[in-house]
Amino acid sequence: MKHAPGSMILGIGAFAPEKVLTNHDLEKIVDTTDAWIRERTGIERRHILEKGKTNSDQAAEAAHRALKDAGLKARELDCIIVATITPDSFFPSTACGVQAKIGATHAAAFDIAAACSGFLYGLALANSLISTGFYKHVLVIGSEVLSRFTDWEDRATCVLFGDGAGAVVVGPSDGKKGILGAYMKSDGRLGHLLSLPGGGATHPATHETIDKRMHFLKMEGREVFKHAVRTMVDAAEHILKETGVHASDVDLLINHQANVRIIDAVAERVEIAHDKIFVNLQDFGNTSAASIPLALDQCRREGRLSEGDKCLLVAFGGGFTWASCLIQF
Ligand code: ACO
Repeated sequence: MKHAPGSMILGIGAFAPEKVLTNHDLEKIVDTTDAWIRERTGIERRHILEKGKTNSDQAAEAAHRALKDAGLKARELDCIIVATITPDSFFPSTACGVQAKIGATHAAAFDIAAACSGFLYGLALANSLISTGFYKHVLVIGSEVLSRFTDWEDRATCVLFGDGAGAVVVGPSDGKKGILGAYMKSDGRLGHLLSLPGGGATHPATHETIDKRMHFLKMEGREVFKHAVRTMVDAAEHILKETGVHASDVDLLINHQANVRIIDAVAERVEIAHDKIFVNLQDFGNTSAASIPLALDQCRREGRLSEGDKCLLVAFGGGFTWASCLIQF
């Protein structure tokens, strides 16, 4: 390790909506099969947020749980960062919605849109804000309601995504535990391969944009797959080199949960043993920015994160964006 960590995770919490949609349920909606979805992606079921509930509702629930875990009150937060591409609205931000719902009366609040890399972008930002002494307690949330932006007539995408939220409270390091390094990258030239084209200033909502189904997520799956493996390997290798940690010293690898074939390919290329990879996408599908904090929460509850463990987090998403973070627990 080159530097002592400046910040550490003080608490983790997550929220998964009660309603579950299985692959068999999807067989009744589009021309697909449970076998195709399992073989090509590893996904078996996903959670869907109930009608009437919002992104900030589920984000606030995850936030409450992370604060409880950290032993902190909402009013002790200096900043709330929500990573999401499925916000409550363009503005006000989802983070402001969370701020109001949890009563974080002293906190600044804003969203970041870096798709599936958003949570790691938020964590990198929180690490900087805390390491420089600008803030003491930052709440980072990854929360998505992708079901509301999924084209339920497009079998190539609707089988992939799910809803959920995960949150961490970040605070000053105790000198041993904490964020050893963080890395963020982007390549906007490839943005068209994964996007939601309608509703922005380029294509404001019209009858035509609705007829053309432009308000739903679009993805060139095969192309995205190739870039996902390449960029996540870059992100993992970069952070290991920067922190001086060898791949064999990583205790747990949590990749963005998009496709089990991508997760395996990344682990194989970075040379991280199979038993150190965490996978929960069979139960959640791809929850974009929520996938890593949802996984972190589950790992901790299942005892997969012990004191002293080095955990490598790696993500890739629309933009394109990619990011990594190495944490000592
Ligand atoms: N059920 C049955 N058949 C299907 C389905 C389905 N749900 N979806 C596609 N098919 C068919 C296709 O039509 C195609 O048929 P054809 O050969 O007759 O043309 C065939 O299956 C193969 O399609 P591919 O797209 O080549 O399948 P692939 O093996 O690439 O798997 C997938 C598709 C799962 C989308 C994969 O490409 C993938 O995981 N891509 C990466 C996604 C990702 O990582 N996203 C991360 C970012 S997400 C974010 O940022 C919000």
